[in-house]
Amino acid sequence: MEEARARTLQLVAPLSDAELNRVYSPILSPLAWDLGHIANFEELWLVQTVGHLEPLDGELGRFYDAIENPRSTRGELPILRGEQLRAYLDDVRERTLQVLGEMDLESADDPLLADGFVYELILAHEHQHNETMLQLLQMVERYEPIEERSQASDPLDDGPEMVLVEGGEVEIGAGAHGFAYDNERPRHAVELAPFWIDRTSVTNRSYADYVKDTGGEPPMYWEPDGAGWWVRTAMGRRTPVDPDAPVVHVSWHEADGFARWAGKRLPTELEWEAASAGADRERANLDHLAFDTLGAGVHADAPTDCGALQMLGDVWEWTSSDFTAYPEFRAFPYREYSEVFFGDAYKVLRGGAWATRRNVIRPSFRNWDLPERRQIFAGIRCAKDA
Ligand SMILES: [Fe+2]
Repeated sequence: MEEARARTLQLVAPLSDAELNRVYSPILSPLAWDLGHIANFEELWLVQTVGHLEPLDGELGRFYDAIENPRSTRGELPILRGEQLRAYLDDVRERTLQVLGEMDLESADDPLLADGFVYELILAHEHQHNETMLQLLQMVERYEPIEERSQASDPLDDGPEMVLVEGGEVEIGAGAHGFAYDNERPRHAVELAPFWIDRTSVTNRSYADYVKDTGGEPPMYWEPDGAGWWVRTAMGRRTPVDPDAPVVHVSWHEADGFARWAGKRLPTELEWEAASAGADRERANLDHLAFDTLGAGVHADAPTDCGALQMLGDVWEWTSSDFTAYPEFRAFPYREYSEVFFGDAYKVLRGGAWATRRNVIRPSFRNWDLPERRQIFAGIRCAKDA
């Protein structure tokens, strides 16, 4: 938890209080809200629910409730700012550690405490908010990360464009033990027909061809360079788009349109999970500090069992699937985590991006968003019937 907090604070360290409070987009919270919400969520679950202590300030929970307060309204709320915000983060953490010191996580028959579930939940929550914060940081002029780790990217060998997944009976979802969200459970078998899946994520070069051919919108943060190619404008910098890197910041509609243009389709999330069997999150562009996508096919020495590359990391991959419950789903620990989002409004994304903390991602992890969203770190991998 200390490591997670250090990273959260590292991300915002280059920013002034004015930048922390500024509303950059109606679909993103001001960073000050994210910070207060991270602490308030920790206080709610660890200090109040597990520790049975009173909140430091009973009013705060209302303003930091993500369901009650849509993102577009968060800049107007009487949330904590400046020194008060920093003090609240520290005060909550102090009480959390005090409660943790008195907790018996081994003998607990409370499902919240068994295997430390609620602690894993709070840790994953802070990690996941880091990615939301990074979505906003793409919009901050001249944001300079404190640390950037470049990862050498070997050139991709001349492998096949697509690899075959045999299908048959495939186990989907997270098993009964270890931390996972309710929507990943229960693990269950499905029958899949054989299919082809792209060996790597779709590159900027391919996507630029599609834009040129169809007159479609370029991805978010692309502008013409005046010489027939594109520059990226994220974080207020203008850098040439790397033709070999995976395309990122495209909507589901754009991903679907690209796949059709290429004579393919998006994979279902079940196909995606089957194709990711054998993926290694230790060898994937995750965990923020590359601060960008790397070349398509990076970590080519760590293919999945079917031969696909970089299914984890770099960019989230849109699937054709709506976000729905697995058979015999049970909401835990609260309906608002997943269940209220089930239906046909949201599409599932898989695999995690460079902006996702490594701890968050596993092959069964399901992310979901509205099909028009482009500020998320989403890209494309296509499939085809075999
Ligand atoms: Fe949250």
